[in-house]
Amino acid sequence: MRLDDSRGRPLRDLRISVTDRCNFRCTYCMPREHFGNEYEFLAKEKILSYEEITMIVSSLLPLGIEKIRLTGGEPLMRRNIVELVRQIRALDNHIDIAMTTNGILLEKYALQLKEAGLSRVTVSLDALENEIFQSLSDTTNSVDEVLQGIDCCKRLELPVKVNCMIQKGVNESQIIPIIQHFSQISITPRFIEYMDVGSTNSWNYDSVVSGDEMRKIIGQEFGQLEQVESNYRGEVANLWKIQNGSEVGFIESVSKPFCGDCSRARLSADGSIYTCLFATEGHNIRSILRMDASQEQIGDAIASIWKNRNDNYSEQRGKVETTKDRVEMSYIGG
Ligand code: GTP
Ligand code: 5AD
Ligand code: SF4
Ligand code: SF4
Repeated sequence: MRLDDSRGRPLRDLRISVTDRCNFRCTYCMPREHFGNEYEFLAKEKILSYEEITMIVSSLLPLGIEKIRLTGGEPLMRRNIVELVRQIRALDNHIDIAMTTNGILLEKYALQLKEAGLSRVTVSLDALENEIFQSLSDTTNSVDEVLQGIDCCKRLELPVKVNCMIQKGVNESQIIPIIQHFSQISITPRFIEYMDVGSTNSWNYDSVVSGDEMRKIIGQEFGQLEQVESNYRGEVANLWKIQNGSEVGFIESVSKPFCGDCSRARLSADGSIYTCLFATEGHNIRSILRMDASQEQIGDAIASIWKNRNDNYSEQRGKVETTKDRVEMSYIGG
């Protein structure tokens, strides 16, 4: 079955935040001055159990969901996360189950994740130079730990993508080294324009490096790039080929919004459905789940939320003012 929203966009993709905690404090996502020792993370009793999450996924299978992405915060921080992968895989043999992670705990868990049925991993890595990496992610962990996690996935033949957020004056210098490193090991890096998600990162247009600007930097090193067909409708990354034959992706949601094909719903760790990354409010599913709603009733509730969905924030950026705070990316998932 295909379930369309009010703009005719089907629900295909559910991104599940399994925890709002993270072992990094990336300055653009969880700045330490806001997410310090006093910050109140979600209380344990509010967080959905794996059985509850699995129940929600099973209620969406008849509605045409094709892809599940486990995110956070940092999903590998949640205890026994491998068990959630196993439970979702047990529902459906074919569904794409991906995970977005900062990679620090990947070496430890990659084998178990693969055996439990994870389809693939997306690792966030914003710099190869350790000093830039540590200052941007506000961590004492090192780049090498992330690279070891990626190597481990490669050895296990667990497919890996690498996402790299670029912020002006901070890490543009890393674009070329990242392409050089990952093209050698046949991984397509994808560069993300810095976005105004949440309300704590003091975003402004001046700190965005657009995809066009990034391609200019790459062109100066490798020669003219050539655009490549996307792999599927609604793919967020625009793919380009460089002259040495390797591919690079760009996620250009600020300069080239892709709301028209957006088929993503987000489930927060405390059980609310958000229909846009830039939403200010979610729809509480946990309460009906804990009132013993049936799988069908949960599916109906989410279907009615999706049918009314009208979001296209990135197309409206700068044109609409909202007085409410947007939810944070660490809460809603990347
Ligand atoms: P694949 O299935 O591997 O192609 O993944 P994906 O296309 O879902 O992309 P991924 O999860 O790797 O997302 C990459 C980044 O793109 C995210 O971390 C976000 O920063 C951004 N992104 C993903 N989805 C959206 C979206 O719906 N809106 C906006 N504005 N940005 C998004
Ligand atoms: N703009 C762009 N990307 C962001 N991410 C987190 N916050 C932002 C932002 N404000 C990225 C991370 C990671 C993924 C989960 O989302 O770098 O790759
Ligand atoms: Fe953690 Fe990812 Fe946010 Fe960095 S971007 S603080 S790794 S959730
Ligand atoms: Fe989808 Fe909202 Fe992102 Fe547009 S801004 S692509 S509607 S999540």
